[in-house]
Amino acid sequence: MHFIKAYLSCLWLLVLCVAVSQSFTDECLETAWPPNPTRSITTYVVDLDEPAHQRWASIAAMYKVQIKDLVDYIKVFVLKISPKLQFLIDLVDTKLPEMADTFPSPYGDEIKGISEASGINLGEVVLYNVFYEIFTLCTSIVAQDENGKMYHGRNLDFGLLLGWDFANDTWALSEKLRPLILQVNFTQNGQVLYKTTTFAGYVGIITGIKPNHFSITMNERYGIQGGYIGLIEWIFNINRQQSFVTFAMRDMLATADTFASAVEYLSKTPLLAPCYYILAGPEAGQGVIITRSRKNADNITLLGKDNSWFLIQTNYDHWKKPPFYDDRVTPATNCMNKYGAQNVTFPSLFNVFSSRPVLNKLTVYTALMELSTGHLESYWQYCEDPCFPW
Ligand SMILES: *[C@@H]1O[C@H](CO)[C@@H](O)[C@H](O)[C@H]1NC(C)=O
Ligand SMILES: *[C@@H]1O[C@H](CO)[C@@H](O)[C@H](O)[C@H]1NC(C)=O
Ligand SMILES: *[C@@H]1O[C@H](CO)[C@@H](O)[C@H](O)[C@H]1NC(C)=O
Ligand SMILES: *[C@@H]1O[C@H](CO)[C@@H](O)[C@H](O)[C@H]1NC(C)=O
Repeated sequence: MHFIKAYLSCLWLLVLCVAVSQSFTDECLETAWPPNPTRSITTYVVDLDEPAHQRWASIAAMYKVQIKDLVDYIKVFVLKISPKLQFLIDLVDTKLPEMADTFPSPYGDEIKGISEASGINLGEVVLYNVFYEIFTLCTSIVAQDENGKMYHGRNLDFGLLLGWDFANDTWALSEKLRPLILQVNFTQNGQVLYKTTTFAGYVGIITGIKPNHFSITMNERYGIQGGYIGLIEWIFNINRQQSFVTFAMRDMLATADTFASAVEYLSKTPLLAPCYYILAGPEAGQGVIITRSRKNADNITLLGKDNSWFLIQTNYDHWKKPPFYDDRVTPATNCMNKYGAQNVTFPSLFNVFSSRPVLNKLTVYTALMELSTGHLESYWQYCEDPCFPW
């Protein structure tokens, strides 16, 4: 009897879920652009000619309350996932402070500087800097217009797909993240070397552009060989011959001179966690999705394959069918096709990124990049009800 009851309620949930997802799949907005100017994200400058431990000082001091607020919530959140994870929280005070010294240059010194300038414990700033490798869900799109002009955009969704019980908590986490979003111009010799949309106090890069060279975004990839294992290997010094996913991106923005060399490096360097790297370059046809396992690339798909003028990546292997409960790729594809290659512009891309369920409760920002000009602009995002829960 209980079994039948349980079965029926499961079935009911499934029907509900399918109904909810069906009711949203067709949205493809035409009126989201221009966004309200209050949604526009402010740009700050980080001068790479300053010593690493000083260069974030003013930003860290300005945002210390918001950073601390998020760190405190992460700790609550981790224990809600399971009280058994208390050992992870204990590591923050015992093991994580010394971890700053194990990060490659300049990341360790930058993190120490952020801790000093904000007054937040070093272990907590380290936690803040590693947890993005676990919690980011996203949609990235690279598109080429009919004249060969290249564009790259992304939604950053933040939280976990753990189900209804957790929805409120992951939304709360997204709420705490929004006040931390900013753009940074990283300068060297007075020139902009690269630009990012990022979070105050976070030294890795999830979205970035090196003007005249290439743009990069990263989406989380889940798997059995997930991010936790690499992180534990790093913390306990079992294996440090691997890169943090978001540090490798910043290394490329700082050092790679061509689209091809960035693609080459990000295809081959050993990583702490599997992920998807999405890159675009200023020349027609320069677009790629690199599907990474920790050791190497499982798939490299170039723009132009099967005459495609755009590439879309969410959080699932693009050569497989997306799960029915989180299919953002089909609606995004339909919406791109509706606009067509003759309409690849910031307005049309912003409309695609603002259409549910590409836009969802976890979405915190949309970033848009134009490769020919090196232009980056980004906007806070909120999904008004009725909104798909993730
Ligand atoms: C950031 O760089 C862009 C040029 O790439 C420039 O237009 C903008 O004014 C810079 N922002 C700040 C705050 O310096
Ligand atoms: C959701 O979380 C907020 C705090 O972030 C809390 O005030 C609210 O009561 C929660 N709602 C439910 C239904 O749990
Ligand atoms: C790589 O991805 C492409 C495009 O989605 C797909 O056609 C191809 O089968 C994939 N290759 C492998 C080895 O999975
Ligand atoms: C796309 O561009 C064409 C031609 O410029 C225009 O007629 C059409 O309305 C555009 N479609 C959308 C959805 O903006």
